Amino acid sequence: MNWYEDMNLWSGFSEVLFTPERARAAADAVATSPLLAFAPASRVLDQCCGTGFFTAPLARRGYQVTGVDLHPELLERAAAACADAGATASFVRADVREYGAPEAYDVVVNMYTSFGYFDDHEDNMRVLHNAHRSLAPGGQLLVDLLSKETYASWVGPPKIVDVPGGMVVMRDTILDDWTRYRTDWTLVRGDTAAHTSLTCYVYSAAELRAMFAEAGFGKIECFGNLDGGPYDAHATRLIIRGSKGSG
Ligand SMILES: C[S@@+](CC[C@H](N)C(=O)[O-])C[C@H]1O[C@@H](n2cnc3c(N)ncnc32)[C@H](O)[C@@H]1O
Repeated sequence: MNWYEDMNLWSGFSEVLFTPERARAAADAVATSPLLAFAPASRVLDQCCGTGFFTAPLARRGYQVTGVDLHPELLERAAAACADAGATASFVRADVREYGAPEAYDVVVNMYTSFGYFDDHEDNMRVLHNAHRSLAPGGQLLVDLLSKETYASWVGPPKIVDVPGGMVVMRDTILDDWTRYRTDWTLVRGDTAAHTSLTCYVYSAAELRAMFAEAGFGKIECFGNLDGGPYDAHATRLIIRGSKGSG
């Protein structure tokens, strides 16, 4: 089984990945980010929506949102998050390498480093191609991730994150001359320890720009945070946006 197909990984480390603080930060970003402000009632596809941290506030804001994820348990949590927010969204259980709906969306978002998971470069390209074919002419794709440049500024010694009743030790290793990284997580609770690891591509802005262009996107722009700040030495994330030509 590939790591991203393992629900134990997502549920086991849910307390690190899907925290209330992240939910609040995502809701704040949707409320304030110029990059997440779309035309009223836009049709938005949230690729790899997880527990709906972006899906729910986007739906609450009046967009017609569809969340896609591989794991039914996470989609159930996303639907509950929408209900709690007093919003409705549609959900599809699918692999992002497969899911696409021709010209059905005005916007595709892919948030919180949910891109670059597949060992085969062509599979990662398929995710971009699926986004492109799912967009109506003039539509936009926005991908938010830790890039090579932003990752380089904090990768280093293992980090420890406290979780209720225990802690998670996280260690990152750069692989294949900065082509990919591996993150090893160990959850220690009482006298038990659970270990898991994931391997992901890590892209520079230039590499991802080239992939966007290959998938057919134009007007490609990079930002260093969701406030729309420049992608420079102070960038904390890479937010890359591309548009589908209007023909
Ligand atoms: C880091 S989480 C981010 C979730 C969400 N975007 C957020 O901001 O919290 C990555 C998500 O990608 C989903 N995922 C992983 N591989 C996938 C695949 N092949 N197809 C669809 N979803 C996938 C996981 O189930 C998980 O929910």
